[in-house]
Amino acid sequence: MRIIARLQNVSKMLDFYSQFNPSPLSIKKFIDFGLNASEEKSFIFLRKELPVRLANIMKEIALLPDNLLRMPSVIAVNDWYIRSFQEILEFEKKDPNPDILEHFCSELVKIRNRHSDVVETMAQGVLELKESHDVDSHTEHSIQYFLDRFYMSRISIRMLINQHIHLFSALIFGGLLERAPGPNKSKYIGCIDTQCDIVSVIRDAYENARFLCDQYYLASPELILNEIHHNQLEKEQFINIVYVPSHLYHMLFELFKNSMRAVMEYHNTSDLFPPITVTVSRGREDICLKMSDQGGGISRSTTDHLFKYMYSTAPQPSKSDAHTVPLAGYGYGLPISRLYARYFHGDLVLLSCEGYGTDAVIYMKALSNEANELLPIFNKATSRFYRSTLQTGDWSNQATHIGDRQISIHTKKHQLPQQESLTRAL
Ligand SMILES: Nc1ncnc2c1ncn2[C@@H]1O[C@H](COP(=O)(O)OP(=O)(O)O)[C@@H](O)[C@H]1O
Ligand SMILES: [Mg+2]
Repeated sequence: MRIIARLQNVSKMLDFYSQFNPSPLSIKKFIDFGLNASEEKSFIFLRKELPVRLANIMKEIALLPDNLLRMPSVIAVNDWYIRSFQEILEFEKKDPNPDILEHFCSELVKIRNRHSDVVETMAQGVLELKESHDVDSHTEHSIQYFLDRFYMSRISIRMLINQHIHLFSALIFGGLLERAPGPNKSKYIGCIDTQCDIVSVIRDAYENARFLCDQYYLASPELILNEIHHNQLEKEQFINIVYVPSHLYHMLFELFKNSMRAVMEYHNTSDLFPPITVTVSRGREDICLKMSDQGGGISRSTTDHLFKYMYSTAPQPSKSDAHTVPLAGYGYGLPISRLYARYFHGDLVLLSCEGYGTDAVIYMKALSNEANELLPIFNKATSRFYRSTLQTGDWSNQATHIGDRQISIHTKKHQLPQQESLTRAL
């Protein structure tokens, strides 16, 4: 009886909080907040904003097809969300005294840890569905739509939680340093680097991808970096950005792994591997990073699938290798990286010439006040999307529909690892 009453209460609170739209913050707002706001203010903001963001996405989970909702992994994810939602609501009417603030911080750490395997577990749920049911193209389309929104919501919730923990938790070394005045002041505000050195992030991602590539192919392509001449605003100056370095690293690491694999496979009969070139440019509006490889490119008919979850042409990493990081094979690299780019209103696009190579471009907003969070919002239109059926294809929107039809042929079945590897930065 008590469980039923509790669930009814959760459902009432979900209805209540999902009426509100999430409030997107810009990188500039995150910084101003980090510099000026008190822990108390952050607590008061988060105890409403976190339940709003959670409720918005939980309402959407509830719209998924019934047979997907019955999959064990999806049930597990749903339970985590309910539990975390309830835990934050405990603070709804609490006075922000020091004890409560400390307890709030430790609850956030607990919630963050609980959700660290959400991406893999949800993906596992989709696999469970595909293994036990026939999945039609409409369901496939809804799942793709849902996963983009679900993972984006997760990125945003983790960003809010991480900012609070980094700024205010006494447990994290550096949290207090970040707020210290004078020479001890770090250039970090929470997890945002106010002078993020793009080149060092590129080199870091390259070296780590190269390490995997060397392990797998016993060789790897070199890196050529073009930067200094492409700063439109401050000529001959290195390009810095105000950004979350772990997000940038995640995207670059995924792109490097993809390019390296393509180069090594395409030139497998030779000892010479053409280098990967990265060009960094800065304009008034955008900062762009273009990674160009000569890995043979991708045919036009497959480009539609690149951003689909679980689309991969790599062999499935074996389960016994679950503790190591594979070079490729889960098919999550591109779609999740694009979400990171889009999260602050940037983008990630691929342009390929089959028979030659691929260019991948990461766009980021150059101005931190324009780098606003892009958040999924739950409303009537969202519910309609899940219920509607796909339109019949005609030539004017052919690309999308060819993609939808082919996905079940091209998508391979994968077993996902239990932890790690997919989502280092999440
Ligand atoms: N630079 C590239 N050159 C050629 N093919 C690529 C490139 N980047 C991505 N691809 C193709 O896109 C697929 C999906 O990439 P991704 O989402 O990173 O998943 P994974 O790397 O695990 O296969 C790859 O399997 C590959 O076929
Ligand atoms: Mg990849």
